[in-house]
Amino acid sequence: MKTVVLVIGANGQLGSVLTESLKQKFGENNVIASDLKHREGYKGIFEIIDATDINGIHEVVDTYHVTQIYHLAAILSARGEEMPLQTWDINMKTLFNVLEVSRQKNIDKVFFPSSIAVFGEGAILDHTPNDAYLDPATVYGISKAAGENWAQYYFLRYGLDVRSIRYPGVIGYQSLPGGGTTDYAVDIYHKAVRQEDFSCFLDKNTTLPMIFMDDAIRATLELMDAPKENITLRTSYNIAGVSFSPAEIAAEIRKLYPDFKIAYHPDFRQEIASRWPKSIDDTMATKDWGWKPEFDLESMTTIMIQKLKEKYKTGSRNLESLVL
Ligand code: SER
Repeated sequence: MKTVVLVIGANGQLGSVLTESLKQKFGENNVIASDLKHREGYKGIFEIIDATDINGIHEVVDTYHVTQIYHLAAILSARGEEMPLQTWDINMKTLFNVLEVSRQKNIDKVFFPSSIAVFGEGAILDHTPNDAYLDPATVYGISKAAGENWAQYYFLRYGLDVRSIRYPGVIGYQSLPGGGTTDYAVDIYHKAVRQEDFSCFLDKNTTLPMIFMDDAIRATLELMDAPKENITLRTSYNIAGVSFSPAEIAAEIRKLYPDFKIAYHPDFRQEIASRWPKSIDDTMATKDWGWKPEFDLESMTTIMIQKLKEKYKTGSRNLESLVL
């Protein structure tokens, strides 16, 4: 049977890049990108979907005979703290709608992104294992921890093939993150290439797990390609990429921009970050579907700087225009 993919949240940091990879894999006509607003210049099929409205999802699934759904829409950790109850409503309602449509329409596979935000101080924060205790302290983290359990519920109760990854902070040159605690690690490269000083909202020694976009996308596709019987975790898989602190990324950037300046002005996001893991144990992902990251801080920095230089040379200084 033909695979037809629906991406919900296709304008986001991950969604915008994943959509392109899915088009390469399944063909442009077999990928339906969707978000709250149309994306200017997007090449391919695009539908406006507000995922809090189940009927909108039903319609698109029927029209295109969708067989897989990637549900990437969510309010992230930092923004979520500004509107906790609304964040809970949006993150959970959209997930329930996706799970319900998928159950009712016999969707083959569903992807639900979770996050390192599911962890809290109850977990060992160095090489945090997959089965660590979950006591998230942000509404985003709480919604992801609950979402993981709902994903597993739909698998156990209805046999729905839902798969999930706990992403570290995702770093890419193609798109910009929005509303997350790890966003600084993308912003810092933009500032470096523009030869501007960087004001960091985290303290210099705050180590967090991160992942280069190419690794994040490859992990997603590999998980979704893995044989069903290999997927032993139906909550979510830890994946590791690279762990570093603001001071370490700044030092790496200084190898290419020796005059690069960073100042530390920790705000409420420091509180969030200090309850998250510093590094991740991804043994389960390696064992079940062969996960192995390829990028370290050095190789990621080289590519980020090279690609952003090209973009700033050809494009405007307006960050929005840098989104794919
Ligand atoms: N990057 C996300 C955030 O900072 C974590 O999943 O909220």
